[in-house]
Formats: sequence, C-alpha cells, structure tokens
Amino acid sequence: MKITVVGAGAVGATCADNIARRELAEEVVLLDIKEGLSEGKGLDMLQASTLLDCDVKITGSTNNYELTAGSDVVVITSGIPRKPGMTREELIGINAGIVKGVTENILKHSPDAIFVIISNPMDTMTYLALKSSGLPKNRIIGMGGILDSARFKTYLSLALKCSPNDLQASVIGGHGDTTMIPLTRLATLSGVPVGNFLDAETLGKVASDTMVGGATLTKLIGTSAWYAPGAAGAILVESIVRDQKRLFPCSVYLEGEYGQSDICLGVPVVLGRSGWESIVDFNLNEEEQAAFNKSADAVRNMNNVLETLEI
Ligand code: 2OP
Repeated sequence: MKITVVGAGAVGATCADNIARRELAEEVVLLDIKEGLSEGKGLDMLQASTLLDCDVKITGSTNNYELTAGSDVVVITSGIPRKPGMTREELIGINAGIVKGVTENILKHSPDAIFVIISNPMDTMTYLALKSSGLPKNRIIGMGGILDSARFKTYLSLALKCSPNDLQASVIGGHGDTTMIPLTRLATLSGVPVGNFLDAETLGKVASDTMVGGATLTKLIGTSAWYAPGAAGAILVESIVRDQKRLFPCSVYLEGEYGQSDICLGVPVVLGRSGWESIVDFNLNEEEQAAFNKSADAVRNMNNVLETLEI
C-alpha cells in the first residue's frame, strides 16, 4: 500500500504522521511545493518512528510527482488555510487552481488512486476534483464530516461529562460555519438519545459550538487547526485501506440521495477498499431535511463561483 499526502503544512504533516503511526501503508509520500519542507518533515517523522516502533518508509518530495507514482490513496491538503475572521469559502480563489493542478498531476502517476480532499472550501474542492478529473464518484471523498463529528462529540462529552468513546454523533451537510448540521436528535450516549440527559438549550449550545468549532480554533491559534483535521483524514484513509466499512459522514457526489443532485455534500457513507461504497439514509425529519436543503443551496452557490474563476 502506498499513500501520498499533498501539502506538508500543519494539516498535511499531521495527517501523514498519523497515517505512518498507524502503519496504514508500506510507504507514505509527503509532497509540497516549498523546497525541502516535505523532505525535512518526512525525515523528522522517520526519526520519530525509531522511537515509536513503527516501520513505514516516509518519502519527502518537493513537487516531484514521480515519487508519488502508484499511490493507492492520495490526500490533498494543499492551499492556504484561513486566518482569524475568514470563512472557509473565502479561500476558493486561491485554492481552486491549486487543487485542480494537484489532482491532474497526481492522476498522471497514480491513475487508480482514491482521492481524499481536505482543502477548503472542502465541499466545493471535492466537487471540483470530481468534475475536473472525470473519475468515478466513489473515488473522490471530501473530509469534513468526520472532523465536524469529532468536534460535536467533544462538546457533547464536555456537556455530558462522559467519555467521547461512548458517544455516537454525526454532523452532515456542508463543512462550513453555517452549513453544517449536527444531528442532535440522532446523537446517543451508549444507544440512549442525548436529549434524555441534556435540555434543549444545552443541546443547542453544543450544536452552535460545533458549527463554529473550526473558527474558534482559528481565532485562538491564529491559523486553521491541524491535530483533529489531520487525525480525521488518517481515520478516513484507514477505513479505506483496511477495508473497514466504517460509517462516517463525508462529502460525496449526490445523485438524488438526501433529495440533492449534482453536488458534493456531507452524508453518512460506508468507506472501504473501493472508496465510498454506499450512502446510508438516516431518515431525516422535516426540519433536518430543510436544513440539509439550505446547506445544499449555499454549497451550490459556492460551486457556481468555480465557473467565474480562470483555472
Ligand atoms: C477545520 O475546520 C481545516 O477546515 C478545517 O479546521
């Protein structure tokens, strides 16, 4: 198994590090345009491996796509992160050209790869990668919902004073401060609805904290977060390469599912060796479906911006 992570910034490097620590592949390639960055971080990870009993070849590459040849899974994190006060959507002008170029270069050397898109605005970048590559829809997966669900579980576990490991909770819809939908009705603590333990006001606060989870971190750190985004990318990749068939919300191309078409948006999918393998219907109620439709409208507007860009 060979996995490439494009972009050796904080998210990409953390993702590659998690992939290496979990020994998800024999070789991990970290590629960046910045001279020496991926070689340096790759070597640092290799040195960490000697301490952590982990045996994975880690190759750094300054924009040499030949080194990525034959990758089974490629994670794209390239582009600029947001600064405090910015939305993910504001990054489209710069990141769209980068994501399109990276996708083309990767495909020249790894025609069978499954793509995981982390670059923002993530749903639109996933749509762009799908449309520009012409690949089968199952091989293009946007990572947003896993991260947002991790944030949802974090805030739920703080409110419930419980272990996050006993929680089941999903965030669907777009990966945006106003477009994501934490499914509070369906969240459970060991199978019991969290609404049995938390009042509506507390649940509402958990949901709104989740929605601005990324923005809160950006404000605190001064740039976009990386530990949870990198870990979320690695867990997504793990389900693919180990064919675990885990059920995670990911941004995938919809053709009528959840009432939407011609859009990539977060829905629960089964992840296995061929990419996303099926979409699971969570039977949304009227209010949740209305929120999903509103989220789709916003993401579709962002997708339309692609047509105005010279990429
Ligand atoms: C976040 O929400 C990077 O979009 C990512 O932190």
